[in-house]
Amino acid sequence: MINALAGCRVLVSAGPTFEDIDPVRFLGNRSSGKMGFAIAAAAVERGAQVCLVAGPVSLPTPVGVTRIDVRSAAQMHTAVMAQLSIEHSPCDAYIGAAAVADFTPQAFAGSKLKKMPGEDTLTLELVKTRDILAEVATHAQRPRLVVGFAAETDDVVAYARGKLQRKRLDLICANRVGVGATGFESDDNTLLVLGHEGFQRTLGPAAKTEIAGRLLDLISERLITERLVTERLR
Ligand code: PMT
Repeated sequence: MINALAGCRVLVSAGPTFEDIDPVRFLGNRSSGKMGFAIAAAAVERGAQVCLVAGPVSLPTPVGVTRIDVRSAAQMHTAVMAQLSIEHSPCDAYIGAAAVADFTPQAFAGSKLKKMPGEDTLTLELVKTRDILAEVATHAQRPRLVVGFAAETDDVVAYARGKLQRKRLDLICANRVGVGATGFESDDNTLLVLGHEGFQRTLGPAAKTEIAGRLLDLISERLITERLVTERLR
């Protein structure tokens, strides 16, 4: 499928987000960025023009990829939305592989929080972050294909199907996290790709680089089919 994505613009998010509590502490998660970076590399290999919005990770940028580094969920939201703005050429696919924080501290403490004498607990007030994926899927410049990820510890299929519907996605890639050497941080993964009308495909277990290639082949097929149908209807 060399050059299957020639002429396509693909936007990928990867890695964790860090939500700062004070100048020295943050809320984060275990995403290494490996899955999302492998996806960006696989898209470039297929001839796409790729923009990768990356949370704080220490991975090298895949050759040919334009990388935008962010730290927080709010910054990732701003960076992704900017890529959908009309100054850019339309985006053909968005692949949300980042582990975006669902909650962020309501307030940032300007100086390091101190232990208070006699107080054994600390309560942090958290507020919901904006759902980047759901906003991309309902954006006026919606990419032709919106692909989400679901990181689940249990009831993987049911939760993933719920996200597919609720967030108005075309595909969702579910992976189990928190058990064994899969999902977060590892070099390998297994993805269950779910779509509408009962579409279901298992990718792996295999290296994330291998899975990313198979996922991009699937995405390429969908983009090509959709383009042919649109052209036929013109
Ligand atoms: O980075 P690695 O170590 O390689 O690990 C890969 C991975 C496990 C992080 C990856 O495969 C994965 O599952 N990414 C999504 C993790 C996640 O946050 O899942 P979720 O079920 O909480 O979120 C569902 C979807 O909504 C995701 O596409 C997420 O990017 C998106 N989301 C969530 C919250 C939010 N505020 N904005 C979002 O866009």
